[in-house]
Amino acid sequence: MSILVVGGAGYVGSHAVHQLHDLGEKVVVIDNLETGNKQALHPNAIFYEGDIRDIDFLRTVFAKEEINAVIHFAANSLVGESMENPLKYYDNNVHGTQLLLQTMVEFNVKNIVFSSTAATYGEPNTVPITEDMPTNPANPYGETKRAMEKMMEWADKAYGIKYVSLRYFNVAGARSTGEIGEDHDPETHLIPIILQAALNKRPSVMIYGDDYNTPDGTCIRDYIHVEDLIDAHLLALNYLKANGSSDIFNLGSSQGFSVKELIAAARKITGREIPAVIGPRRAGDPSTLIASSLKARQVLGWNPTRTSIEQIVSDAWSWHLSHPDGYLKEVNI
Ligand code: UFG
Repeated sequence: MSILVVGGAGYVGSHAVHQLHDLGEKVVVIDNLETGNKQALHPNAIFYEGDIRDIDFLRTVFAKEEINAVIHFAANSLVGESMENPLKYYDNNVHGTQLLLQTMVEFNVKNIVFSSTAATYGEPNTVPITEDMPTNPANPYGETKRAMEKMMEWADKAYGIKYVSLRYFNVAGARSTGEIGEDHDPETHLIPIILQAALNKRPSVMIYGDDYNTPDGTCIRDYIHVEDLIDAHLLALNYLKANGSSDIFNLGSSQGFSVKELIAAARKITGREIPAVIGPRRAGDPSTLIASSLKARQVLGWNPTRTSIEQIVSDAWSWHLSHPDGYLKEVNI
């Protein structure tokens, strides 16, 4: 029996594939390589290149492989892009998930772990954010992730598909053994941008606003190490296997760091100057997002161990140092 990782060539998905292999699991990967990268794939994973919006492709994979659970990472995830092109997000995220669930129904696959986001909450009234707080997504990205969660809720009632939805806060860092890391094109995330500036791949880091209602005026986020994040997915699979009921969990480190604090930590770790300039606010940025991850600890038994910002930044830095230009695109041809 295999675990199907949908989106297994992406940043987060590829870390899941590697950690599943560490545990001796048999893994099948689906990825359309739109944002994923072949070089991030585990050499022993069975890989199918294709799109979840192609149901015949999904049926072929499910017919060929004995799949007993799905981990679903395949989605577009850029807030800004989703504001400009919301239909792309409804098509890939919502419609793609609909076809994936439909195929699971057809092949009697009952368990799915799903990658959701803090963007489902929108601007919170208080922090830390708990799972029972209202969801008011402020952009189509968060809205489509919430719609995917709702679709799974109804699919559970109708077809008995059990899901765990994991709402990520700010995922960062890289696999400690160094083979894979974070490489987006374009890059929009703070930590890789800071490290690209450390490598002189960009002239400076633009701080998006220093007039927020926070101690140093810059936005505060809850950064979680990608390996801790994946540990929670593995626990969620076990929870579903043990007949756990469908549920939603936040995943964060429950501690907040400002943009300025992140830049200071990176300067210390890299020993590089990292020029930074203050720019205007970025539309749609909440000032402070911090998770309560108590529920994941209590129900899933999750125990994140790589919570120091130094470890998160230094694991990301190791990968950037060994891959200064990210995954080399020409290796794909
Ligand atoms: N930032 C900068 N300069 C940059 C990039 C980011 O100052 O060049 C700031 C942002 O304004 C924000 C913080 O750094 O305050 C973190 O920004 P990221 O883009 O790294 O991450 P976000 O918090 O915007 O996004 C994360 C996830 C999204 C999710 C969102 C929920 O990556 O998938 O949280 O709010 F939707």
